[in-house]
Formats: sequence, structure tokens, C-alpha cells
Amino acid sequence: MSGPTRARRTRPRSPGRPGAGPDARGTEIEVEVGPVAHGGHCVARHEGRVVFVRHALPGERVVARITEGAAEAKFWRADAVRVLRADPARVEPACPVARPGMCGGCDFQHATGAKQRELKAQVVAEQLHRLAGLDLDVVVEEAPSAGPEGLRWRTRTQFAVDAEGRTGLRGHRSHDVVPLEDCPISTERVVGSGVLAQRFGNVETVEVAAGSDGAPPLVVVTPTPGRHAHLPRLPDASVAVRTADGLHRVSGRTWVEERVTVRGEDHAFRVGGAGFWQVHPAAPTLLGEAVLAALDPRPGESALDLYSGAGLFTALLADAVGAGGSVLAVEGEERAVRDARRSLHGREQVELWAGAVEEALVDEELTARRVDVVVLDPPRSGAGREAVAAVAALGARAVAYVACDPAALARDTASLAEHGYVLAGLRAFDLFPQTHHVECVARFVPRAQG
Ligand SMILES: C[S@@+](CC[C@H](N)C(=O)[O-])C[C@H]1O[C@@H](n2cnc3c(N)ncnc32)[C@H](O)[C@@H]1O
Repeated sequence: MSGPTRARRTRPRSPGRPGAGPDARGTEIEVEVGPVAHGGHCVARHEGRVVFVRHALPGERVVARITEGAAEAKFWRADAVRVLRADPARVEPACPVARPGMCGGCDFQHATGAKQRELKAQVVAEQLHRLAGLDLDVVVEEAPSAGPEGLRWRTRTQFAVDAEGRTGLRGHRSHDVVPLEDCPISTERVVGSGVLAQRFGNVETVEVAAGSDGAPPLVVVTPTPGRHAHLPRLPDASVAVRTADGLHRVSGRTWVEERVTVRGEDHAFRVGGAGFWQVHPAAPTLLGEAVLAALDPRPGESALDLYSGAGLFTALLADAVGAGGSVLAVEGEERAVRDARRSLHGREQVELWAGAVEEALVDEELTARRVDVVVLDPPRSGAGREAVAAVAALGARAVAYVACDPAALARDTASLAEHGYVLAGLRAFDLFPQTHHVECVARFVPRAQG
């Protein structure tokens, strides 16, 4: 769908690498914007070369400023800086720095929520088609939110600190920090911690985690390596400092409490030191219910929860299989395993292993077990071919794969298919409004059942 393009240079050509020809960075080009692509941008073409354009929508005609334009590069990157023909779903971003050349935290603030979900559905479908050879109609479901649509949902935000000690977020593909007075996708309680109003000294990052129990949020500060951090007073938060030898309490608690209701049952989890927990307040319930629906765990069954974190799915599986069943949870972060142990205290059917999933999956104690159902909730990079092959070898009747990256999900879907497991259902949730991120829960079953 690309049309004719015109180039206008707004900055002098820089020489680029010797012999590599000029670099087009700063050049403005007029392009027809094509489909959305994974990563928060759309695909356009300029003189035969692919250009990934941010701040644009498919079908628009825009003036795009090249942000990465090496002469020898296979593709360039650009920001839409003027819209010549707008999509009807284009809106004014709610945040003053969600704009070209500014904050890199949000990718889609210039689109309505419905349009964002449509774009994410296209990305999930495209990744499954390209990497797993599957053609699926994907729907991305809106997550219920207490705040204005798509705003004030982020209960955990990691801010960076600039040379002057101001907190903010980094630009897109940049180390530069854009100082912030507010972050409209973060909850009032995250912003209310006061970190955006203060200056820090010798600090690299400031993470804020607001638990659902209403207690003051936890601020975890990571100092610049080899330096002593200077912290401002934060009377409305608990504060801790993270160093190579652990987490050091400065004030208040070093953990937050999360309360979750799934299928009418209440659960409480301790999450220490800004450890992993889903960032959208609706996520634990939505994902918990989707995982239970995908697996339908029955009393007496044996379940495996891989990449178990603070034990969200472990608790749900434990209740479903009951005292006569068993759940083995495997998690790499010792601290998360300690948290899970505390939260799951009293559930005798649960066993918690601290260590790498890849190693656990070749442990004879595990490979000799009967496994009926598996939850796989790996980090962004996915489980990978070896872990997937080992999971398939367990012969479970169902696997629920929770994925925060559709490309990793699609790669692992292809590996699961090689090992006899087929995709039997997929739900996708908009748990990261305004960004390009999307969370999926996929159900896999042995091919004969599929
Ligand atoms: C996406 S989180 C999921 C956590 C948990 N299932 C939840 O929903 O809260 C991924 C988890 O995998 C852990 N992890 C990452 N790589 C791992 C590995 N190779 N082996 C074991 N755990 C790993 C991380 O520490 C993190 O807790």
C-alpha cells in the first residue's frame, strides 16, 4: 500500500561510517503507512526500503522523520511528525511527552483504546502466522480498569534517573532520560510515592510497586555501581536500596501485599523487593481465570507451574487439585520462592523448587512423575526449544502458556507442534494499554486430542 514518496532534508547529511554512504537520520520523508508490526510501529516503504514508523496508524499518510537511517541498513526507523491524512481512530495523546523524540514508554497513545486492541490483535495473528504457520482470528479483550480508559493502571513502574537526579523514563531506543512530573499510565499511588517530585543522587533506577492492600507503595532504589546513593525523603512510601548483596531496608516494608479474587475465592500474596508481579490490577484475576479455564484442573491431579514467581498460579492450581493432588512450582528467583512459601503456607500439596526451569525439566525426580497439567509463564524471551521439548515429553493432557511476547509465543507454539502439542485455544488481553504489549493465554493439548 505504499505510494510515491518525497524526501526533504531538514539537517545536513552526516557522513556515517567511512565508505558506508550518508546517514539519513533527521531527513523527513512523506510516506503511506502500511500495516502495524510487532514492536509498536507500522511498516512503510521509501525508495524500496522498509521504514518502521512510530506515532503513525495503518492507512495514514504522514511526514516521517528518520531516527535511524544508516545507508547500508536493511531498514530504517522513523517518527511520524506530521499527519497529512489521519485515521478516524487517531486521538490526541493524554500525556504531553507521548510524542516523537520524547518518552519511549508508550507506543499507541495516539489511538483510541479500541484501535489499540485491534492493532495488537493483528500483531498476535501475524506472529502466529509467520512463525507458527497458523491462521487465527484473534480478539484482544479490554481489561477492566478503575481509572479513565487506558490510564492509571500501572501498579509497578521502573523510572530512570538523569544526571541531575531527576526521575523519568527513557526515550525510545535511547539512554536519554525524559524527566517526568507525572506518568498518566501509572496509578495515583505510584505517582503519589513522590519519586517524580524528588531528586536522587548516584542512582540508576527507582522502581515503585503499589500493592493492592492499600499500604504505602514500595520504592526500590538501585545505586550507580560503586557509588553511595543519596535519597530524598519519601514520607508516603516504604524505601529499600538494592545492591549486589541484596535488598536493604531504609524505611517501612521491603515487600508489598497483593490480594486477588479468582472464581470468587480470595487469595493474598507477598511480593518482595519489587519482584515480578503482573502490573495491571485486573491481570491476576483475568489470567488466573483464563489459566483455570484452559487446564480445567481436577481434584487429585498433578500440576506443574513453571516460572512460578510469587506463586499466583501455584495457589490456584493447589486449590483446584485439592489436598489429594499435587503442584510442583519451579522459579529461578530465590526471593520469589521465599515469598511463595510464605503465601502458600499450609497447602501441603505444594512443592516449591528454586532453580532454573531448564534444569528442573531434566531432573529425574520430575521426569519420573505423572504430570496432568502444566502452566508455562516464561519471561519475555519465551521458554525456548529445549524447555518446550522437555515439557512435551511429560505427556500432560493440557498446557496453559501465559505469554507477554507474541513472537516468543509463536516460536514456542511452533516448537510445541514439532513435539506433538497443538494450539487448542487462545485468549489475548490488553493488560498494557497505550503500549504495544499484549498478554496471551494459549491452551495446548496433545495432537490426538486437538
Ligand atoms: C512472567 S514471570 C511469571 C511469574 C508468575 N507466573 C506470575 O504470574 O506472577 C516469569 C518468572 O520466571 C522467572 N524466570 C525467568 N527465567 C527463569 C528460568 N530460566 N528458570 C526459572 N525461572 C525463571 C522470573 O524470575 C519470573 O518470576
